Amino acid sequence: MSRVLVIEASYLAASVFFILGLRSLTRPDSARRGMQQAAVGMLLAICGTLLHREIVEYHWILAGLAIGGAIGWPMGMWVPMTAMPQRIAASHMFGAIAATLVGIAEFDRMGNGAFVSRPLMAALGFEVMFGSLTITGSLMAFLKLQELVPGVPITFRGQNAVNGGLFALTVALFLYLVWQPDTAWAFYLMVVLGLVIGVSLVLPIGGADMPVVISLLNSYAGLASSATGFAIGNNVLIIAGALDGASGFILSIAMSRAMNRSFGNVLFGAFGAPPPAAAAGAGPLPVRAISVEDAAVQLAYAQKVIVVPGYGLAVAQAQHAVKELAALIEKNGGEVKYAIHPVAGRMPGHMNVLLAEADIPYDKLREMEEVNPEFPSCDVALVIGANDVVNPAARTDRGSPIFGMPILDVDRAKQVIVLKRSMAPGFAGIENLLFHAPNTSMLFGDAKVSLQRLAEQVKQV
Ligand code: TAP
Repeated sequence: MSRVLVIEASYLAASVFFILGLRSLTRPDSARRGMQQAAVGMLLAICGTLLHREIVEYHWILAGLAIGGAIGWPMGMWVPMTAMPQRIAASHMFGAIAATLVGIAEFDRMGNGAFVSRPLMAALGFEVMFGSLTITGSLMAFLKLQELVPGVPITFRGQNAVNGGLFALTVALFLYLVWQPDTAWAFYLMVVLGLVIGVSLVLPIGGADMPVVISLLNSYAGLASSATGFAIGNNVLIIAGALDGASGFILSIAMSRAMNRSFGNVLFGAFGAPPPAAAAGAGPLPVRAISVEDAAVQLAYAQKVIVVPGYGLAVAQAQHAVKELAALIEKNGGEVKYAIHPVAGRMPGHMNVLLAEADIPYDKLREMEEVNPEFPSCDVALVIGANDVVNPAARTDRGSPIFGMPILDVDRAKQVIVLKRSMAPGFAGIENLLFHAPNTSMLFGDAKVSLQRLAEQVKQV
C-alpha cells in the first residue's frame, strides 16, 4: 500500500472515530467511551501525519511530544473538576496558537504571500484572523476564571462601538489580503488586530458567563483549524475543525437558551456585574434555619426525595456524601431522584459528571422537563448548593435578570431543605425568595459536612 493511501486511510478512520466520539458524548452513560473514541481518533490522525514525506527529521516533533505530554498529563490528572472551565480555556489557547503559527509559517514560506493564490489567502487569512483572536480571548477567559484578573465585566463608554470598529477594520484587511495576497504589512496587522480584539471582546463579559464564551471561542478555534486544513491540504484537519466549530457553536446556543439569554446579551450585555447592595443582602425577609437532627427526621420518613445539585455541590465535592445519604433514605423505603438543570454548575454537563464520579446510577437522573411535574408530589426537595436554577423569580419577576430562564420547580415541593453556607446569592447575584418561603428550611454549612452529618443522624432515626 502506498504511503499516501495509508495516510488518507488513517485520516478517514480518525474522522469516523471523532464522529462516533461526539455521538457517544451526547449521553452520560456513554460519555467516557466517547472521550476514548475521540482519543483513538486523535492518535490515528497523529500517526498518519507522522508518515508524511515532507517531514525530514523527527527530533523537534519528539521534543514537542515530550513537552506537550509533560504539560497535558498533569493537567488531565490533577486539575480539579471545578477548575475545568479555565483548563479548557487554556487548551483552546494552545490550539489557537498552533493554528495561527501554522498560518504565519505558511505565509512566510510562500514568499510572504507572493506565491499565495487568492483562495489560499482566504483560507490563511481566516485561519490567522480567528486563530489570533481565539488566543487572547481564551487567555482572558482563563485569567478571569482563575481570578487572576477581575471576573466582573470591565466596561467603558462606547465599548461596543470600539469593538465593532476594530472588527470591521480586521475584516477589511482580510478582504484586502484576499485581493492582494502579497501585502505582508496587512497580514501582520491583521494578526495584531485579532490579538487586540480577543482581549476587548472578553473584557466586558462576566467571569461566570465564560463557559458560553469558551465554547464560542472553541468554535472559532475549530473554524481556524478547518481553514488550516484547507491551507495546507490536510483532510483530517478540515473535518475535525468543522466538527469542532459546529459542536462549539451548537453548545454555545444551547447554553444561552438554557439561561434564556440571547447570544448578544451574553457577548455584549455585561452580565454578572456585582448586584446592587440592596439585592445582595438578606433583607428583612424571614429565614427558617433547621437543625441537622430535624432535617434528618424529615428525610428519614420521606417517601419521595428529589435531590437538586448545584454549583455548591461541586465546590464542596459532596457527590460521594450525597450518594451515601441517598442510600440511607432508600434503605428506609424512600425513593430518591436527582433533578438536573441544564446550566447547573459552571459548565455543560457539570452535574452529570460529578454524580457519575460517585457512581450514582444514570437512571436516577432526571432532566428538568421530566422532573418538574413531580415536585408537587415530592415530600422533600433537597437543594444542595443550587441557587439560580431554583429561583422562582425566573417565573414571576419580570424585572429579574433571570426572568424567563427555565427553572426547577422546587418551590412546589411539600418541603424544601436547602444546604448552603450563607444567604449569599449565586452566579446571577440576585436574591432568591425560595429561601424565605414558608415551606423552605435552610441548613447552613458546607454541603459535604452537612450531608455527612445528615447521614449520621438518618442512621439513628
Ligand atoms: P449558583 O446560582 O451559582 O449558586 C451556587 C450556590 O452554591 C451559592 O449560592 C453558594 O451559596 C453555594 N455554595 C458554594 N459553595 C458551597 C459549599 N461549599 N457548600 C454549600 N453551598 C455552597 O449555582 P446554580 O444554581 O448551579 O446555578 C448555576 C448558575 O451558573 C446559573 O445562573 C447559570 O446560568 C450559570 N452558568 C452556568 C453555566 C453552565 S453551562 N452550567 C455556564 C455559565 C453560567 P453560599 O456561598 O451561601 O454557600
